[in-house]
Amino acid sequence: MDILALLRRDHDAFFAAIASIAALLEPGAFQRATVRSKGHALVLQLQIHARSEERSLYAGLFALARAPPNVREHLDRKGREGVCEHQSIDDATLRFERIIDDDKCLRADILAELTVVGELLEHHARVEEEGELFPEVERHFSMEERQGLGAEMESLRLALSVAPERLRLAAVLAT
Ligand SMILES: [Fe+2]
Ligand SMILES: [Fe+2]
Repeated sequence: MDILALLRRDHDAFFAAIASIAALLEPGAFQRATVRSKGHALVLQLQIHARSEERSLYAGLFALARAPPNVREHLDRKGREGVCEHQSIDDATLRFERIIDDDKCLRADILAELTVVGELLEHHARVEEEGELFPEVERHFSMEERQGLGAEMESLRLALSVAPERLRLAAVLAT
C-alpha cells in the first residue's frame, strides 16, 4: 500500500479517537475509566505511528541521494522538523497520560491536555505532513517506491504492536 495512504488513514483514526475521548469529557458525560483506557490506547498508537514513520518515510527522505542538492537539503530539513514535532507530541502525550492516571484530576484539566495533543497533531499531521511533505513525496518518489516504504512501515508497525516495549528502544532515527 502507498505509504501516504497508510499515513493518512492513521491520521484520520487519531482525530476520530480524540473526538470520541473529548465527547466523554463533556460535562455530564465524564467516564474516567473509559477516558483512561481509550487515552492510553491512543497514545500507544501515536507512538507506534511516529516511530515507524520516522524509520520508513523520514529515513527515505534522508536517503534520497538521486535528488538535486537543493531538493535533498529541503527534504532533509522537513524530515528533521518532523522528528522535532514528534518529540513535542510525545511530551504532550506524556502529560496527558499522567493526568488520566491521576484519580484526583479534574475533567476540565484532562480536556485541556487532550486539546493540546489534538492541536499539535493537527498542525503536524494536517498542515506539515499532509499539506506540505506528502505532495513533495508524491513529486520525488515513484508509486513503487512509496509502496515499498508502505510495506516497510507496516512491518515496523506490526513489530512494535506485538512488542510495545521496543518503543523505548526505537531510536528516533538510525543515523
Ligand atoms: Fe509525523
Ligand atoms: Fe504522520
